[in-house]
Amino acid sequence: MKVLGIESTAHTLGVSVVESKALKKTKPSPGNTRVLSNVIEKYPSTAEGYVPRKLADHHAKLLGPTLEKALAEAKTKAAELDAVAYSYGPGIGHCLHAGYVGAKALSEFLGVPLVPVNHAVAHVEVARFFTGARAPLVVYVSGGNSQVFALEDKRYRVFGETLDIGVGNLLDNAGRILALEPPDAVGVLKLASEGKKLSSLPYTVKGMSFAFSGMLTSLKKTRPRTRQEKADACFSVQETAFSMLVEATERCLCHTRNHEVLLCGGNARNKRLQQMLALMASEQGARFCVAADEYNGDNAAMIALTGLQMLRADAVPVTSLPQQRIRIDSQRIEW
Ligand code: FE2
Repeated sequence: MKVLGIESTAHTLGVSVVESKALKKTKPSPGNTRVLSNVIEKYPSTAEGYVPRKLADHHAKLLGPTLEKALAEAKTKAAELDAVAYSYGPGIGHCLHAGYVGAKALSEFLGVPLVPVNHAVAHVEVARFFTGARAPLVVYVSGGNSQVFALEDKRYRVFGETLDIGVGNLLDNAGRILALEPPDAVGVLKLASEGKKLSSLPYTVKGMSFAFSGMLTSLKKTRPRTRQEKADACFSVQETAFSMLVEATERCLCHTRNHEVLLCGGNARNKRLQQMLALMASEQGARFCVAADEYNGDNAAMIALTGLQMLRADAVPVTSLPQQRIRIDSQRIEW
């Protein structure tokens, strides 16, 4: 079975082809299922931030060439595809529609099923696929969201989450306020390694949830100017935000007693966050799991792999229109 996936929820357009030789009752795993191609085209981050209309134009313009490239890399003809999966939400409306139109047209042209995939579920499923995590406590960190949840009765039950902005949004905005290069989370990560002084920033944990925007207000007030001041600010923002996430996750873990802690989402690529969570997990006797960077940033392989799981479990919903604000706990996990 070959499934094509399309990702277009925010700044990244992706197309991927996965092939599975797993038998009906066997779980797809790296031993029986391969990612044949995983092509991404990311809209560059700029000081003005992301403008939805510009992102959608970028995705619509590049969808055709990216599709061709993904099929060529996978050595697959369009007629060999058994289904087309796409990200139906949560995400930016303009961007979601660009991917939806392409996916729907392709599935109707080929006469194959169209599989709407929840983007957040896909972040978790691709990480479970590559790490072999069975029933983890999940720490999902991205630009738009930050949540701690675990599987219960075939649903991801959210124990804690951000009360304002996602941790990725915090780091991207910090990069813009400090005029870093690039002006985003990557710029913060780069400069944080030169930081020496930990300054006091708002630390907001409420039970198992957390809030980050107080740190941005504080940065705007202090306006670090020299390179060292900016490095100290990056270091302090990262240490404070990640400590909040680790504290909330540890509190969840003490209740749920999961044997695995799985980190996923775009900001799971941050090595400092990985290091802090791994230390906490080992102290609590849990295995720390994280997938390779390629599969934590937005990508289409996660959409194709989750679409494949949904098809195998006969769990493809009837309606397929994009949904900007769909939550992870609204979906039943049937596999
Ligand atoms: Fe994402």
